[in-house]
Amino acid sequence: MSENQRRDFIGMALGGGVAFGAVASLIAMKKTWDPLPSVVSAGFTTVDISALQEGEIMTVEWRKKPVYILRMAKDDPDAEKFLGKRNIKIGDAIYTIGVQICTHLGCIPGYESSKKEFLCACHGGRFNSSGINEPGTPPPVPMEIPPFKLIDGGKKLLLGEAGEEYQQLAIKGGK
Ligand code: FES
Repeated sequence: MSENQRRDFIGMALGGGVAFGAVASLIAMKKTWDPLPSVVSAGFTTVDISALQEGEIMTVEWRKKPVYILRMAKDDPDAEKFLGKRNIKIGDAIYTIGVQICTHLGCIPGYESSKKEFLCACHGGRFNSSGINEPGTPPPVPMEIPPFKLIDGGKKLLLGEAGEEYQQLAIKGGK
């Protein structure tokens, strides 16, 4: 092997090594960036709402946040008033869904069914039954509506996926 051939061979070998190293580290980085399968599936929560009675609320955990689903009372004027804006109709019942975190400083408001409103005990924030902040109280905006999709003929909600009903809502709120 001449001196030139030897240099070319060493150059190719080193170049190949560097290229292989670069590919290997890209694969390693990609593995680091990709969420674990458990994290991907943890982003979705299926909730059976079929047993909810009129005026009843349930709270579930979604992505470490409390999410409420309220089957609105028939005598609640906000049910029809905010239909399509904050509320959805399934069959002849109206439901409203929201992240149960106060948009003031992040406390968890409780639902008072007798007053048909959410009350945040931290600083007296109030939201109507559709999750819209009451003027004159500390929360600046409505509670956030999480992306959801109706499945199983409307008996269940899939939290984490933006279905048609979610996309049509006009006021999604949140900070
Ligand atoms: S955190 Fe709810 S009113 Fe302040």
